[in-house]
Amino acid sequence: MDILYNILVFLHIVGAAMIVGIWIGNMKKPTVHPRQFDGAALQVITGVIMMGLIPAMDLDANYVKLTIKLVIALVVAVLAFIGRRKYKAGEPISAGLAHSVGGLALLNVAIATLWN
Ligand code: HEM
Repeated sequence: MDILYNILVFLHIVGAAMIVGIWIGNMKKPTVHPRQFDGAALQVITGVIMMGLIPAMDLDANYVKLTIKLVIALVVAVLAFIGRRKYKAGEPISAGLAHSVGGLALLNVAIATLWN
């Protein structure tokens, strides 16, 4: 079970990198790229599975922190989905939408790492 949990953490970090990395890479010309939605979906899926494994593995967890992360992650996923649809339709994507996706994901990285 440990190896499964560790692989989920690995994929969880890759998902965070996809959202935040693409956002920072496009900072001068803000946009939402479809791969950011993929990263957001990966975050929610791996995060929820880990949350389910925590009691089964007798791990300690801060459920207030995880619930706040889940709410923020769902907002990121919805905004990234809207951005992906606009991107695929060739419609303009506002800087506000792009910064909300990247900034909220960065906030979740901060919550995950700074709040014990
Ligand atoms: C945009 C969304 C998210 C980002 C950027 C994010 C970021 C991170 C990062 C960077 C870590 C590693 C922290 C460490 O090992 O010290 C982590 C761990 C974790 N995340 Fe997320 N996360 C997101 C969404 C979620 C969601 C939706 C859940 C589940 C409700 C979740 C549950 C967890 C769990 C269980 C861990 C491992 C235990 C812990 O360190 O708290 N995450 N997350």
